[in-house]
Amino acid sequence: MAREWTPSSWRERAAKQQPTWPDATAVDEVLKVLSGYPPLVFAGESRQLRQDLGRVARGEALLLQAGDCAESFDSFNAVSIRERLRLILQMAVVLTYSTGVPVVKTGRIAGQFAKPRSADFENVGGRELPSFRGHIVNDPAPTESARIPDPTRLLQAYQQSAATLNLLRAFTKGGFADLARVHAWNLEFVAQSPEGGRYEALANDIDRALRFMSACGVNTESVPHLHEVDFYTSHEALILGYEEALTRQDSLTGDWYDCSAHMVWIGERTRELDGAHVEFFRGIHNPIGCKIGPAATADEVVELCDALDPERAEGRLTLITRMGADSIGDRLPPILRAVRDSGHPVVWACDPMHGNTFTSNSGHKTRHFDAILAEIRGFFAAHAEVGTWPGGVHVELTSDDVTECLGGAEALSDDELDLRYETICDPRLNGRQSLDLAFEVAEMLRSA
Ligand code: PEP
Ligand code: CO
Repeated sequence: MAREWTPSSWRERAAKQQPTWPDATAVDEVLKVLSGYPPLVFAGESRQLRQDLGRVARGEALLLQAGDCAESFDSFNAVSIRERLRLILQMAVVLTYSTGVPVVKTGRIAGQFAKPRSADFENVGGRELPSFRGHIVNDPAPTESARIPDPTRLLQAYQQSAATLNLLRAFTKGGFADLARVHAWNLEFVAQSPEGGRYEALANDIDRALRFMSACGVNTESVPHLHEVDFYTSHEALILGYEEALTRQDSLTGDWYDCSAHMVWIGERTRELDGAHVEFFRGIHNPIGCKIGPAATADEVVELCDALDPERAEGRLTLITRMGADSIGDRLPPILRAVRDSGHPVVWACDPMHGNTFTSNSGHKTRHFDAILAEIRGFFAAHAEVGTWPGGVHVELTSDDVTECLGGAEALSDDELDLRYETICDPRLNGRQSLDLAFEVAEMLRSA
C-alpha cells in the first residue's frame, strides 16, 4: 500500500537546505498569501510537456534545458528576458536544423531563484557570513543583515516569475519566435564572431527552405508551428514551503500539480530517498527531474526511479546526470544499464556544468569550456555503449557578454575572468560559448 500523500506530507520528513527563517509566523503568513494567489502555470501545460518529454524518452526528440544558475531580482527587465529566450531559440534551431530532430525547449527561468549551498557559512573578503541562498531567500551583499532570510522575498519571487512568464508567453506566441525571423535571433555581439557567421549561414538555409515551402503554399502564417513555439519553464524546487503553496488540484483530473513551473527538479544535495524533497515530488504530477552526481550508485538511482516514477510513465522523470568530465566514462554506464533494465522510461539529460566547477588561480569559481564539451562527449559515448538515447543537455548560460567560463572560441583566459564576471552564483556560458556549444552538440549527434 502506498503511503498517503498530501502537499504538506513532506513536513514529516527531514528537509535539507531550507532557510532558517528568523520568524516562523511571518513565513506562515506569507505562505498563506501565496496559496491564495493564482497558479503560475496550468496543469494542462505541464501535461503537454510530459507528452513532449515522452517523445524524448522514446528517442524521437531532444531536450534543451538552459538558463541562469540563479535568476536575480536586480537584473529583472524585458531585455534580459528577451535575450535569454532569443539565445535558447537560436541554440534550438541549430540543433533542430543540423540533426532533423525536434527540440523540447525548457528554460531555467521564471522561478530559478533558490540555491542549495555546500556550507551554511561562506568567506567573503575575509569575513565569515551566512551563505547566500538565492534571491528568494536573502541578498548576496557582504553584510550580516543582507544575509538574514526574509520571507517577503517569496512574494517577490512569485511576482517576478509571473511577469517573466507573461512576457515569455507574449514572445513565444506573439510573433517573436516566428521561424521567418530566424536571422533576427542572432545576438548583436555574437553576429560578428565566427559562431555568429556560422549561424547566419544556417539561417540563410532555413530562409531558402521557407521560401521554397511558401512557393508550395505553406508559410509561417498558415502553419502555427512555424509561427510560434512551445517554451516551458523549470527550476529547482528547493524551498518546499513555497512549492507547497503553489501546489493545486487540477479540476479536470483531480491530480495535484506544482503550479510554480511546468517542470521542477530535485537537486543533487536533496535527493535522499527518505527526505522531504522526494516525498513532495512523488505526489505532484508535473514532469520532474532529479540530478544525479558522481557518488550515486546504480541501485540508489533505481530506487529513486521507483519512488518518483512508480507507474513507469514516459516523460514523467528526467535524470540529469552531472558527473564531471573525468568521472562520466566510469560512473554513467552502470547507471544507464540498471535504469534501462528496471524498465523506467526516463529521459537522460547531461548537465556538463556542475561536475566541472573549480576555483582558478585568480580566485574565480569557473568552468572550462573544454571540460564542458568533454563531459557531453562522455555522455554520448556512454549512451552509445549501452544503447540508450542521449536525450538532451542542461546548461547554465546567459545571453550577456560575460567572462565567467574559461576557453571557448574566444579562448578566455584566467586573467580575463575579472573583466565581466557578473554571476551571483555559478559561472555561466556567455552568448558565443552557448552558440558554439549548440554547434558542437549538433555535430556529436550527427555523428552518433
Ligand atoms: C544547479 O542546477 O544550479 C545545481 C545546484 O545543481 P546540482 O544540484 O546538480 O549541484
Ligand atoms: Co548552478
